[in-house]
Amino acid sequence: MNSSKKNLLSLMELSSEEIKAIITRAQDLKRNRLIADPQVLKGRTGVMVFEKPSLRTRITFETAINELGGNPINLVSDMIGMGSRESVQDIARTLERVVHLIIARTFSHRTVEELAKYSSVPVINALTDEFHPCQALAFGLTIHERLGEFKKCRVVFIGDGNNVCKSIMILCAKLGYDFTLVSPSKYLPPESFINSCVDIGNCTGSKFDFTQDLKSAVNHAQFIYTDVWASMGQEKEQESRKKDFSPFQVNMQVMSMAPSDVFVSHCLPAHREEEITSDVLDSKNSIAFDEAENRLHVQKSVIVHLFS
Ligand code: CP
Ligand code: NVA
Repeated sequence: MNSSKKNLLSLMELSSEEIKAIITRAQDLKRNRLIADPQVLKGRTGVMVFEKPSLRTRITFETAINELGGNPINLVSDMIGMGSRESVQDIARTLERVVHLIIARTFSHRTVEELAKYSSVPVINALTDEFHPCQALAFGLTIHERLGEFKKCRVVFIGDGNNVCKSIMILCAKLGYDFTLVSPSKYLPPESFINSCVDIGNCTGSKFDFTQDLKSAVNHAQFIYTDVWASMGQEKEQESRKKDFSPFQVNMQVMSMAPSDVFVSHCLPAHREEEITSDVLDSKNSIAFDEAENRLHVQKSVIVHLFS
């Protein structure tokens, strides 16, 4: 095991400076795409393991590895039977002998931690039940493109305190952005996690607020974010969640309570007419598809960070 190798399992591992550097480099990579891509993966192979479906993550990582000179391999987890056909530890110890980078989307966060623990090559979390760090970095890049610099802003997340929400909370805490979560109280992230973000925010100047009052929350919002009400793996709760979250739909009425130049994003895939209406997702305020593209640029930047 190599204790000095870097992973990206959660944004908690990155300092504010590292996050800013990744976003700044991603902007350069975006500008110089296919012109000056650093070939940090030349002659190297990156393997992707998916326990859950994916469009954006799969396509952006595969493209990222190619553009950085490497060779991507996609493994469907059913075929390798992670934790059933073979232990996660043995899979990690086998992969490290052959490939140079592991990218994994898993249910349990513990699985990516184990892959990282038992392999000497970098591991990137491509979404677990707990975190989706690459999505939050892509949002960070999209915010940065709109603001033109790293300066204080106000992010309002409407919906479930889920993996994407928690990753955005860490992003905001580390970059000094104010964060409000509008959600029914039973869907808030765990108190210990909230306290960690508040502690980081106390050092960076970021303020956290948790409310059910949509109007006052969006009144001064610069960025509104939402995500599905039932995440992958929560399909059985779909109906009860629909009921609980229906007052928190991001629709034109919510937009009318926000500043007219507010930006709206969503990690996608969206359930149109559930957590967000089509007129909002397709409006001029929407930056969701910019963010989807930015997954590519920011993940290339993450890979450069892990290999330098
Ligand atoms: N946002 C995101 O991770 O999309 P996919 O689930 O399609 O990869
Ligand atoms: N919270 C969602 C994000 C999908 C990209 C999920 O985990 O299904």
